[in-house]
Amino acid sequence: MLRVEGLEVSYGHIKALKGVSLEVPEGKLFVLLGRNGAGKSTLLLSLVGLIKPAAGRIFLNGEEISKLPPWQRVKRGLVLVPEGRRIFPSLTVKENLELGAFSAPKGAASRLEEVLEIFPALKERLLFPAGALSGGEQQMLALARALMSNPKVMLLDEPSMGLAPKVVGEIYRILEKLKGGLTIFLVEQNVNRALSLADRVLLLESGRLSASWHREEVDLKLLEAAYLGEEK
Ligand SMILES: Nc1ncnc2c1ncn2[C@@H]1O[C@H](COP(=O)(O)OP(=O)(O)OP(=O)(O)O)[C@@H](O)[C@H]1O
Ligand SMILES: [Mg+2]
Repeated sequence: MLRVEGLEVSYGHIKALKGVSLEVPEGKLFVLLGRNGAGKSTLLLSLVGLIKPAAGRIFLNGEEISKLPPWQRVKRGLVLVPEGRRIFPSLTVKENLELGAFSAPKGAASRLEEVLEIFPALKERLLFPAGALSGGEQQMLALARALMSNPKVMLLDEPSMGLAPKVVGEIYRILEKLKGGLTIFLVEQNVNRALSLADRVLLLESGRLSASWHREEVDLKLLEAAYLGEEK
């Protein structure tokens, strides 16, 4: 379970998050929607400790993790699949995956086997440099690397960005399989994809959560206005 209380982040004079509170219950998949610049990536980066908030607290399974460095958060089961994938192109696929297991090196070999079961295409390319993979395969690698840390809560920042619909479909099929066993917090721009999978949909507007809906009750009109409306 992931809980956030009153998170505030500023970049100099720009207030990117203005008091965000939310709770993702165990085993649920929540989707965070919001237009460009709403603060979605800032929220995810703050959760994993890569940005220091000005205020607010973060809890993972009841334990406060707000003051912990990023690697300690990974060790406790919180992992981010970052925007733009951030794989190491000159390292092999296998080396990239092994890096994902830095927080739990003991079980890494068996974990690798398990993760490769989920991503058979990576199994065939283990010794390729990661930079030689297609965009879709690189996204799979980023996901697989995150799973190597044996997370309890996985955050994903726009995993379908720039990918062909067929590949996006594959990624969503994998997320559907992972759902339940993992708590997932997914940032997505594609509303239809998000709605296909989400237990709950949150809307972030100019650094504030402005709506939280069950999948069945999403207000598409309001959502459309949030995407197309004037900048606040
Ligand atoms: N390193 C930074 N320095 C200064 N301002 C930043 C920095 N990173 C983000 N911002 C600003 O903070 C706000 C939130 O940015 P953020 O990247 O979190 O938005 P986002 O919702 O992830 O957008 P996108 O959909 O484009 O990925 C924006 O106004 C952005 O310009
Ligand atoms: Mg972003």
